[in-house]
Amino acid sequence: MPSVLSLHITPDCSLPKRCPFCYELAAKHSKAKPLQWFMDIPTIARDIGVEQAPLGGGEATLNPKQLLCLAAKFRDNDIIPNLTTNGMNRIKCNNLFGIISFSFDKYKISKIGLRNLVKNIKYYKRTNKETKIGLNYLLLDKDSLYHLPKAIGFFNDIIDNFYVLHLKNNPVDYSSNDIRHVLYPLAAIMKDRIFVDDSIQLLLKRKEYCHFGSEMMTIDFDGAIRGCSFAEPFGYLDKVSDLKDLAAKYPLQRCYKCPYTKNV
Ligand SMILES: C[S@@+](CC[C@H](N)C(=O)[O-])C[C@H]1O[C@@H](n2cnc3c(N)ncnc32)[C@H](O)[C@@H]1O
Ligand code: SF4
Repeated sequence: MPSVLSLHITPDCSLPKRCPFCYELAAKHSKAKPLQWFMDIPTIARDIGVEQAPLGGGEATLNPKQLLCLAAKFRDNDIIPNLTTNGMNRIKCNNLFGIISFSFDKYKISKIGLRNLVKNIKYYKRTNKETKIGLNYLLLDKDSLYHLPKAIGFFNDIIDNFYVLHLKNNPVDYSSNDIRHVLYPLAAIMKDRIFVDDSIQLLLKRKEYCHFGSEMMTIDFDGAIRGCSFAEPFGYLDKVSDLKDLAAKYPLQRCYKCPYTKNV
């Protein structure tokens, strides 16, 4: 059974113009479930052994009241909720999240502004002393790979963990040497603060890069259930009470696009 249950609670986003690579745009959209529908998931998730629940979307902070209510329900069931956000909105999180991760790439920065993003990250850090603060750094192109050390230097004081993610759908063809030259020196300095996803593990020619989806299951805003965000759905959840049965049928498939991250 997966220990990580990722919920995409809305397809909507706060950015005036969406990131062109966003996987929510690529998904075939059907009707979004009301946020209330997600509220019964935490109790069942506890029964199937879930330990962490990353909450995202779309942009999950668009509806702060319901987001926080859902996060509190996960806490009540001894599951750690995490949040992934573009960092545009400030919401009061009351230390509910285990990790708050801010996404960083040129598209978001051009809309939000670096100054605003930094101010907002500092706000979340100041008001959530028990929460780890992460940066999801997306490798969009070779430039973004070579700018990674500069970005880490810039954010070093306000970010605890750096999650380096490979662009899915249209990945850039780096050589494993390109990646090694940038990542290994950083990893040596940063110790256990840099994490990379499966596609990067693959580029680093690691033996154990694919988790067969065993650590992660995703429920989309329309009830579609998949392994990681980029895998094909293996079912649709209509009644939340069916989650236990669906999780038991969870097919372990090799998927090289898993966003699940491990230390470099
Ligand atoms: C879809 S977003 C949802 C949360 C929030 N709106 C945000 O941007 O952080 C979740 C994460 O997936 C990343 N992402 C979106 N599309 C992707 C893609 N095609 N390949 C790799 N990562 C992607 C985003 O950069 C972000 O870090
Ligand atoms: S900010 Fe997040 S949800 Fe919005 S378009 Fe970009 S990746 Fe997608």
